[in-house]
Amino acid sequence: MTSATQLLASIEGVGRDPRRGGFSRHGFDRVELELREWFLAEAERRGLAVRGDRNGNLWAWWGEPGPGAIVTGSHLDSVPGGGAFDGPLGVVSALSAVDMLRERGFTPAKPLAVVVFAEEEGGRFGVPCLGSRLLSGAIDPDTARRLADPDGVTLADAVTAAGLDPARLGRDDDVLATIGTFVELHVEQGRGLVDLGAPVAVASSILAHGRWRFRFTGEGNHAGATLLGDRHDPMVPAAEMVLAARIAAADVEDARATVGRLVPNPGGTNVIASSVDVWLDARAPDDAATRRVLEKIRTMASDAVHREGCVLTVTEESYGDTVHFEPGLRDRIAAALGGIPVLPTGAGHDAGVLAAHVPTAMLFVRNPTGVSHAPEEYAEPADCESGVTALAAVLGQLAG
Ligand code: GLV
Ligand code: MN
Ligand code: MN
Repeated sequence: MTSATQLLASIEGVGRDPRRGGFSRHGFDRVELELREWFLAEAERRGLAVRGDRNGNLWAWWGEPGPGAIVTGSHLDSVPGGGAFDGPLGVVSALSAVDMLRERGFTPAKPLAVVVFAEEEGGRFGVPCLGSRLLSGAIDPDTARRLADPDGVTLADAVTAAGLDPARLGRDDDVLATIGTFVELHVEQGRGLVDLGAPVAVASSILAHGRWRFRFTGEGNHAGATLLGDRHDPMVPAAEMVLAARIAAADVEDARATVGRLVPNPGGTNVIASSVDVWLDARAPDDAATRRVLEKIRTMASDAVHREGCVLTVTEESYGDTVHFEPGLRDRIAAALGGIPVLPTGAGHDAGVLAAHVPTAMLFVRNPTGVSHAPEEYAEPADCESGVTALAAVLGQLAG
């Protein structure tokens, strides 16, 4: 049996980002394609037959693919400068759990698959959970095909380069129909398990989550020669919008709003920008609360735009409502694992997208600092092994 930690070590050289630190692995880029090759080799080593679906997700089958399958897995892409665990831990734990079940002589009565979803973070094309959204019809394929990365490469171009037919992107009922139950294991992205002193939890819910692009348009001009009163500098309302995000989120219980990306055009030290793109990530316990946060930010940004004589356009790039994982499945899993904790999360997952279509559950593995989406993200090897043991027990029960 290969442990999760050993499997993670086998990809620790792939996609390191010397500039940002950590890893930059994005959907269908050279690095993610290398990780896909790694996954193919690991599946082959285990005699699992890999099939790629129409949307760039990979499925490694133990047994004949068919309805009622028990599916586990996660993603291999990362945020820019991300950690080693968000995504890969779910994939390596799935492979290791297969090893563990086999060593025990277990033969699944139902088909079992390990899945790798494409572009979960949206680190390249902006929309999170792109592979599972396409598969389940949660994004219109025409919209998806037109998504472009920061270099202007469209998703259609990227999947073509990866050997897929962009015309076939979109909801895939044949693949969806094979999934009986989906269980995703993930590193915890918070300190819930640390506080509880437990290595593994089962998920209860995911916050509603949207991403919006605020484009502030002004007048490009000279940083030295343009009098303050003559300026239409879009960076000024953009900066006010960053502060508005904090103010608006603080006003709504358990809401979060983040600006992690801001791009001035053309972007010169001695140039008043002609436009600034600011991406807002806002999350809250339900749809109404998330929309309240957004509207407050939009109002404050509009006022700031008006004062500076600029123009604002807001585009919704993705949205997902609150997810409540199926309580029956969640409670059965918690009980079968000896009454492990049940925890909510503010992070998005492919499991959250699939939960609208199939019985879905998640397991979280303790993260000693709670840090995630950063190079410091971590899980102790012993906790990773607890995660694999828990996942193997769940898969064994569901597929037995
Ligand atoms: C993905 O991890 C997200 O929550 O943005
Ligand atoms: Mn993530
Ligand atoms: Mn993830």
